[in-house]
Amino acid sequence: MNHTGTVPIKTARLQLRPLVFHDADVMFSTWTTDPDVVQYLSWRPHTSVDETKRIISYWVSNYPDPKFYIWGIQLQTGRLIGTISFHSISDAFSRGEVGYALAKAYWGKGYASEALQAIINHGFGVIGFNRIEAHHSISNPASGKVMEKCGMQKEGLLRDYYRANAGLQDAYIYSILKKDWDLSQGHW
Ligand SMILES: CC(C)(COP(=O)(O)OP(=O)(O)OC[C@H]1O[C@@H](n2cnc3c(N)ncnc32)[C@H](O)[C@@H]1OP(=O)(O)O)[C@@H](O)C(=O)NCCC(=O)NCCS
Repeated sequence: MNHTGTVPIKTARLQLRPLVFHDADVMFSTWTTDPDVVQYLSWRPHTSVDETKRIISYWVSNYPDPKFYIWGIQLQTGRLIGTISFHSISDAFSRGEVGYALAKAYWGKGYASEALQAIINHGFGVIGFNRIEAHHSISNPASGKVMEKCGMQKEGLLRDYYRANAGLQDAYIYSILKKDWDLSQGHW
């Protein structure tokens, strides 16, 4: 494995970059407090901008760790619209899981798929994962569509897999393997 940490990644429409302290206000006023965004996520909506700031501080203190990956998703205008991450990383099995969330005003424009494709390319092409996985609540099909658009395959149903703000969730698990990605040459 060749861990890089949260290095900047550029796509056609997006810049993926480390979060900084002054991102707190836009995060708090858009997605970290939005019940529709957090409905199928396991973290509680933030109740104060200080809570958002504390979480960013935690991320900032972890950025020197080459195995720590959480990017802000930024438009070319400079507007921050969400986050995307690798977590639950296993070096022993060359495996990592992805997670993402976008402010509601920016849903349905292909941004999550573009960001996910970019970190999949980075994960296989640079970091050296063999398997990248993700799961989503069965009640959140848009997230499954994002995974499918990036070449991930549905592997099965995980019953009562995690507790979200909307309660206990059955989830579909998806993955993409390095050999799948090689065949696709990184373009789905
Ligand atoms: C899930 C989420 C990241 C999707 O982001 P996005 O930028 O809108 O995703 P994209 O535009 O790249 O792709 C979404 C796809 O889902 C489709 N879609 C939207 N609602 C859908 C639904 N109810 N059923 C099936 N497909 C749906 C869209 O049509 C689109 O597919 P298309 O490009 O073929 O038309 C965004 O809704 C979000 O942040 N939700 C809250 C947090 C969250 O749930 N994160 C994922 C946790 S697993």
